[in-house]
Amino acid sequence: MITIYKAKDYQDMSRKAANIISAQIIMKPNCVLGLATGSTPIGTYRQLVEWYKKGDLDFSKVTSVNLDEYKGLSGDNDQSYRYFMNTNLFDHVNIDKTKTFVPNGLEKDSEKACAEYNEIIQSVGGIDMQLLGIGGNGHIGFNEPGLAFEQKTHCVDLTESTIQANARFFESMDDVPKQAYTMGIKNIMSAKKILLVATGENKAEALYQSLYGKITPNVPASILQLHNDVTVVADEAALSLIIKKGEI
Ligand code: F6R
Repeated sequence: MITIYKAKDYQDMSRKAANIISAQIIMKPNCVLGLATGSTPIGTYRQLVEWYKKGDLDFSKVTSVNLDEYKGLSGDNDQSYRYFMNTNLFDHVNIDKTKTFVPNGLEKDSEKACAEYNEIIQSVGGIDMQLLGIGGNGHIGFNEPGLAFEQKTHCVDLTESTIQANARFFESMDDVPKQAYTMGIKNIMSAKKILLVATGENKAEALYQSLYGKITPNVPASILQLHNDVTVVADEAALSLIIKKGEI
């Protein structure tokens, strides 16, 4: 079941998504949140921090597991997703950092890194609410089009365009990550609830195909149609095609 909430703009999307996450924390203080990086959730995290600072939210019993991490990057590298999470959320709220998990980018043995991460997700009791962004091609996590739906955490080769786009952040080409560890679709689909956030016109096609198109590995997020508790919070620009087609 998919419920769609239309937001006016990015700010409104961020506030609505933060409301849903804070309701989850209030209803189950020791919940396990699956978290995402990228530009879309930054406003959501900012709003959660604001409410925490006002005394309206308590993260002390929350556990978190992130979707993905670059292989080869340490948590203090400012391009790592661990660093992103610390600076955008964890450093500003009372979450116990030992209960915040991100795949171990420094583990060279991919099989070991992925098995350990699956083990962590299982040992915390599974994910209560998974926050997702969506790529312009319908990817979720680093699950790119064409990958099998059945996978758990795995190592992916980054596309040449992603590697090139990241190159500007690193001193030499050797330092640019070529692979990443990501939760698989199977981990994501096992979450009890899913909250997908999307903003901007460049997500409109992916969002339409994911929510109303054919369920196919070519549009990874289309699998969400088979999940029984998905909430989508998207701004008008991201929903524009869905609105145009008269679906909502
Ligand atoms: C982030 C992630 C990615 C992003 C997606 C959208 O952890 O796994 O799938 O959610 O690439 O990125 P933004 O929000 O930057 O458009």
